[in-house]
Amino acid sequence: MKIAILPGDGIGTEIIEEAVKVLNALGQPFDMESAPVGGAGYEAHGHPLPEGTLKLAKEADAILFGAVGDWKYDTLERSLRPEQAILGLRKHLTLFANFRPAILYPELVGASTLKPEVVSGLDILIVRELNGDIYFGQPRGVREAPDGLFKGAREGFDTMRYAEPEIRRIAHVAFQAARKRGKRLTSVDKANVLETFQFWKDIVTDVHKEYPDIELDHMYVDNAAMQLVRAPKKFDVIVTGNMFGDILSDAAAMLTGSIGMLPSASLDANSKGLYEPSHGSAPDIAGKGIANPLATILSAAMMLRFSLNLPAEADRIENAVKKVLAQGLRTPDIHEAGTTKVGTAEMGDAVVKALA
Ligand code: IPM
Ligand code: MG
Repeated sequence: MKIAILPGDGIGTEIIEEAVKVLNALGQPFDMESAPVGGAGYEAHGHPLPEGTLKLAKEADAILFGAVGDWKYDTLERSLRPEQAILGLRKHLTLFANFRPAILYPELVGASTLKPEVVSGLDILIVRELNGDIYFGQPRGVREAPDGLFKGAREGFDTMRYAEPEIRRIAHVAFQAARKRGKRLTSVDKANVLETFQFWKDIVTDVHKEYPDIELDHMYVDNAAMQLVRAPKKFDVIVTGNMFGDILSDAAAMLTGSIGMLPSASLDANSKGLYEPSHGSAPDIAGKGIANPLATILSAAMMLRFSLNLPAEADRIENAVKKVLAQGLRTPDIHEAGTTKVGTAEMGDAVVKALA
C-alpha cells in the first residue's frame, strides 16, 4: 500500500511527522513516500503542486496531507500561491466528496466556546462538494463591467455553477453516509436567491427518491450558520456546495473546542482519498513544537478506514487518541486547568504508546 506523504508548510511538517510515527507503529507494510507541496513545492520546484508531487499523488493508494500556506506567498500571482496545491489535487484527482466530521470528545467539552449543554455529545458530519461551485467556475477575473449601473468600471467576477451529474454524485455520497449514521440529511442551499442552488435543491430532492429510508430537509445557508451555533446537535449529516461547505465547516469545527482535533477526507468515486487536518498551516506557531497533531493522526485513521481497508487499525488509532485525552494530555490549543500541557512530539509519542 503506497501512501503519498505531503507535509506542506508551517506546522504541516511537524504534525505529519507525528502521524507518520503512529502509522509506523502499526506494524503494517506501508510504502510511504514524501514530496514537497504548497510553499515548499514553490521553493523546491517553482510551483505549489510540482509535477513529481502530482505524479506521486496519482500513483499512491492514498495521500496524507499536512497544510499549506504562508503569508510570505500572498503577493505571488494566484496560480503560484500555496492554496493552488490543494485545489489542484482536489481537481486533478477528482476528489469531489469532502467528509468533515465534527465530534466533541467528552473530555474537551470545556474547550468549546459554546455552553456544555449545547455541544456535549456533538457528532455531526458535513459532506462538502469539492470540485465545483464558484471555486472553479469559469469565467472569472477582473474586467471592464459590460453592463449595469457601473458599466465601464473595473469589476471582479466569479461564476457559480453546478452541473446536474455533479450534484447527483455528491447527493448519493451524502445519502449513503446518512444511511450509516442517524439517517437524517440536511441539504444546505440558498435557493431563495441563487439559481444554482434552486437547481441544487431540485436535484437533491430528486435523488432522495432513491433513499426513502433517509429523512431529508432543506435549509438556507444563513439559517444553517445560525442553527450550527444555536442547536448543532439537531443535525446529523449536512450536504452542501463547495463555498458554503468551506464556511460552515469552520463554524462546525469550533463547536468542538479546537480545529486542532478535526480530521477530514476528500474522496473520489473509488474511495481513493486525500486526508488532511481541517486546520491550516498556522505559520504563527510553526517551529515551536506546540501544534496539536491529533487532527492529522485522526486523518491517518480515516485513511486506513476509507482508502486502505484497515478498519481495525483505524479503530486502534482512534482508541489511542481517546486514551491520551483521558490521561489528561493536552496541547496548548485544548489545554485547561487540571490537565497536562504537552508539545507536538510528546502528544505523538503518547498516542504511539497508547496503541499498545
Ligand atoms: C479548506 C481551505 C481551502 C478551501 C483553502 C486553503 C483553499 O479553507 O480546505 O477549507 O477554501 O477549500
Ligand atoms: Mg476552509
